Amino acid sequence: MSRPRRERLRVTGVEDVGPYALVRVDRGGLEPGVPGQFFMLEAPGRVLPRPMSLCLAPRGELGFLLDPIGPGTVALATLEVGDRINVFGPLGNGFRLDVARPLLVGGGIGIAPLPYLSEALERPPAVLGFRSEHHAEAAALLPNAEVVIDPTLITEVMPLDRDVLACGPEPMLEAVRALVPDAQLAWEAPMACGYGACYGCVVEVDGELKRLCVEGPVLCFS
Ligand SMILES: Cc1cc2nc3c(=O)[nH]c(=O)nc-3n(C[C@H](O)[C@H](O)[C@H](O)COP(=O)(O)OP(=O)(O)OC[C@H]3O[C@@H](n4cnc5c(N)ncnc54)[C@H](O)[C@@H]3O)c2cc1C
Ligand code: FES
Repeated sequence: MSRPRRERLRVTGVEDVGPYALVRVDRGGLEPGVPGQFFMLEAPGRVLPRPMSLCLAPRGELGFLLDPIGPGTVALATLEVGDRINVFGPLGNGFRLDVARPLLVGGGIGIAPLPYLSEALERPPAVLGFRSEHHAEAAALLPNAEVVIDPTLITEVMPLDRDVLACGPEPMLEAVRALVPDAQLAWEAPMACGYGACYGCVVEVDGELKRLCVEGPVLCFS
């Protein structure tokens, strides 16, 4: 398991991918970790860092795909090459990679951890769902994926005889879990510290309280 480190890293690229932003930073001494693990990125002008899954790990860099939905993600998505930001990670539990017949499933910005996961699993089949053609431009990050656009749902096209590894909005994860109870699912909760100290990310899972940053974000229920 990689040891998390905090470093101030230089931004090496910022590009639009549909409505999302792909932000790349120099890797410095940070390890990319296991797909599904996350990093805390300090947005300029914001007190609390924001959790982000690792999307890509090209040589010497870390790449993050951001959906600019609020002040922190907008500040990160509008960084410029040469800016420096504090990055802490890798954190949490990622996906188990010892699966026989993987199928990657992603909804919206839930595609973020899948390109790195796909590389680690040698490009297995994938199904992605987006709310519009513009959002679906992000599917270019996972070239072999089948793509559906609302109102078609991922669960309408997803084969059920595979080892599912999924990330996406909660209703999508619940629907996937109902069809494939042993799916590995990457969940989200607002996080302040990322390493178990603040209890800000506690979620109730099947009647049990869990700190998602240390027991997740990837959980499997079977
Ligand atoms: C482990 C993990 C990995 C993530 N990876 C990515 C990623 O790769 N790319 C990406 O774009 N986003 C990712 N997120 C979500 C991202 O961290 C939040 O969208 C971000 O922190 C919002 O910050 P903000 O200041 O832009 O918006 P805020 O103003 O903080 O939030 C905007 C709205 O989103 C809600 N919200 C904020 N954070 C969360 C959350 N984590 N879960 C549910 N609702 C939330 C708020 O309640 C508010 O309604 C991840 C979250 C987690 C926990
Ligand atoms: S984010 Fe602080 S305990 Fe999980």
